[in-house]
Amino acid sequence: MNNQTLLTGQVLTFDGNPFETAWDDCVHINSSGAVLLEGAKIAAVGDAAVLKADHPQARQVSYGQDLICPGFVDAHAHYPQTAMIASWGKRLIDWLNTYTFPEEARFGDPEYATAIAQRYLDLTAANGTTTIASFATIHPHSADALFAAAHKRGQSVVTGKTCMDRNAPDDLRDTAQSAYDDSKALINRWHGKGRAKYAITPRFSPTSTPEQLNALGALWAENPSCLMQTHLSEQPDEIEWVQGLYPDARDYLDTYESHGLLGARGLYGHAIHLTPREIDRLAEVQGRVIHCPTSNAFIGSGALDLPALAQRQIPLGLATDTGGGSSFSMLRTMAAAYEAAQHHGHALHAAQLMWLATAGSANSLHMSDEIGSLKAGNYADITVLDLKSTEAISQRANRSGSVWEDVFATIMLGDDRAIRETWIAGASRQS
Ligand code: GUN
Ligand code: ZN
Repeated sequence: MNNQTLLTGQVLTFDGNPFETAWDDCVHINSSGAVLLEGAKIAAVGDAAVLKADHPQARQVSYGQDLICPGFVDAHAHYPQTAMIASWGKRLIDWLNTYTFPEEARFGDPEYATAIAQRYLDLTAANGTTTIASFATIHPHSADALFAAAHKRGQSVVTGKTCMDRNAPDDLRDTAQSAYDDSKALINRWHGKGRAKYAITPRFSPTSTPEQLNALGALWAENPSCLMQTHLSEQPDEIEWVQGLYPDARDYLDTYESHGLLGARGLYGHAIHLTPREIDRLAEVQGRVIHCPTSNAFIGSGALDLPALAQRQIPLGLATDTGGGSSFSMLRTMAAAYEAAQHHGHALHAAQLMWLATAGSANSLHMSDEIGSLKAGNYADITVLDLKSTEAISQRANRSGSVWEDVFATIMLGDDRAIRETWIAGASRQS
């Protein structure tokens, strides 16, 4: 019976959505809290004194004034772009052709795919990220590589073979039929195995023919528990390109909708430049918008008006979009989300930013009953933040009047040095 571990420290919990309810009514920090782990799961969350008395046999790990948070959930990334992150000087289409496609072509080698999958999971765990929804490459074994690496670590991962049957180099194209067949085989191999979840993955409308989108729409209808991930309205040039390729579509979202690729389990990355109809449809079907703020700044895509979408009750996730995004860190990503909202005249509270990076992203992946908040029954995927990790942050904390000021300083100034420890399925991955 002694597979129990009691973590004590300051504990962050949610009992609501701080975009719908005042943040201080639904986001709490217990300054002398505790989280009881039992095996891979959370068994209890509460006051340290109470849990210590009730579970004297539990191994204790004391984190002092550190903040015990749900593990970060990165709702949109490209693990195959790990080695070409921070590539200079291009906008979306040029960036794809110059940097991204040549790097993704290297994944023709399964050993390379496995090496990068492991490197990527190491880098993200060191940044406090415990769940990722990632694109793979065109090669089915690139999805196998990430699923297998995550499975070995007991880690939850969402991924899928990227599908492209036009407007991509020869060695990065499949067909409508092979995309369907290969994705179906991967679903059968991985979806629901341990913590693995499959996302049907058309890269974006410009790199798929209508036939391929139709085939993937049919596959989704046959496997409705799968997620579907893609890109939507990231840059004006891209939107114009989509209009030319799909002359009958009402708008970009319609290229997905008319091929069976719009739904609540659909994850739409970026979605910056939406028309009123697209916003209405996403709200109606509860399609997920995934905010990728470092990427939007880095590739020059624009600043998403996230508070406006939140007001329409569109479910939102937060993501790095590595390697269009310029960081593996969800702290840096929260900082960029703050800056993007400021662009639209909104100041997001640290409680809202933390919620987006954890419970919000988990909700976008339909995984709220497994991850994203510290509650009994969820997996013990936990990130412990040192709120005084550098000189710059501690000197700011000396001026601070509340723990939320400290959290905000760590969001704005913190990096992987702020990650005291990352727990995945109840096992510490020492960072
Ligand atoms: N649109 C299509 N593919 C990509 C990609 O790999 N990264 C980003 N940021 N946008 C895309
Ligand atoms: Zn992306």
